[in-house]
Amino acid sequence: MTDDPHKPWFPMRTKRLLLREARLGDYDDIHAYAADPEVVRFMDWGPNTPEVTAQALGGWVAMSAQWPRDEVNLVVELLETGRAIGAIRLSIYSKADRTADFGYTFNRDYWRQGIATEAASAIVETAFTTLGLHRVFATCDVRNAGSYAVMEKLGMRREGTLLQNHEVRGRWRDTHVYALLAQEWAARRAASV
Ligand SMILES: CC(C)(COP(=O)(O)OP(=O)(O)OC[C@H]1O[C@@H](n2cnc3c(N)ncnc32)[C@H](O)[C@@H]1OP(=O)(O)O)[C@@H](O)C(=O)NCCC(=O)NCCS
Repeated sequence: MTDDPHKPWFPMRTKRLLLREARLGDYDDIHAYAADPEVVRFMDWGPNTPEVTAQALGGWVAMSAQWPRDEVNLVVELLETGRAIGAIRLSIYSKADRTADFGYTFNRDYWRQGIATEAASAIVETAFTTLGLHRVFATCDVRNAGSYAVMEKLGMRREGTLLQNHEVRGRWRDTHVYALLAQEWAARRAASV
């Protein structure tokens, strides 16, 4: 869906961040947040054991050898320190409908500094411009106020709430669905210049 499917749209820089593919050397930084119960509280994975993080990271690194592909997991590196402080994913959900979804996770030491918004804005911008997508959506546990605050900051609309659609750690979870259309993103961009 890019102009040139042989050319990935990443790595990508924002003001403070580098969004790039994972390396095996990111293990310590990634495990630091993936093993943190507070970070994974609303996720359907974790807290990770060292083995699970190593396996997940190995999978991302192996995946980076393939292009094009529908799922892209990028490490978010803080330019100032070169540390991997989180990860962000963009996945093509339907090629026919030009729709993708995304998700993000960050180390607790970096929360509430606008980092998730900065990384997710870059991903959404890429989705609508470089990738030419029509619709982008994201979901989260209804209790995950931080996650949907990011989505709302991006101008995403809460389209609905799915009741007990996902069983996580033995408990049924309710899920908010947020989405944004290409024309809505373009209108926001036009209004902000
Ligand atoms: C959810 C998460 C990604 C937010 O990241 P972040 O970098 O702190 O987000 P930002 O700093 O860009 O904040 C964006 C807005 O959300 C608000 N916000 C952030 N965390 C919040 C929280 N826990 N409760 C309410 N609002 C919150 C911020 O105040 C900000 O709004 P403002 O600019 O009006 O003040 C981060 O908390 C995280 O990694 N959580 C664990 C993993 C996770 O749950 N991922 C999402 C799965 S769906």
